Amino acid sequence: MSELARIGVAIDSDLLARFDQLINGRGYTNRSEAFRDLIRDELVQKAWESSDTEVVGTVTLVYDHHVRMLSEKLTDLQHDHHKNILSTLHVHLDHDNCLEVLIVKGKAGAVQRIADALISTRGVKHGQLTLTTTGAGL
Ligand code: NI
Repeated sequence: MSELARIGVAIDSDLLARFDQLINGRGYTNRSEAFRDLIRDELVQKAWESSDTEVVGTVTLVYDHHVRMLSEKLTDLQHDHHKNILSTLHVHLDHDNCLEVLIVKGKAGAVQRIADALISTRGVKHGQLTLTTTGAGL
């Protein structure tokens, strides 16, 4: 970690009170860590805007495995992109519904396209790509 730098921030007192309430609710014990996390989150979001940046993330899918050929389609898609999909967790939620969580890694553009293809597959009830970082440089 590099040397710590101290900054002063002028902020509206009402806004600060709301911020304190928010971060207290999330378990932060001081503002500095909350500010640092906000900044890191913005940097992670920004990295995803550049399609060549190396990123990691998770794709969450909920689907009904009774939908014809859906499980096969999702598996085929994952095999097509096996280099970008590091791991898959499958949970049988109930008689009909499955939850899959995929750990994805690669160039931001490629990872986004894989997630879009999986999530837009007919029969997927809900899907979400969660963006995160390899941690390098943060
Ligand atoms: Ni299942």
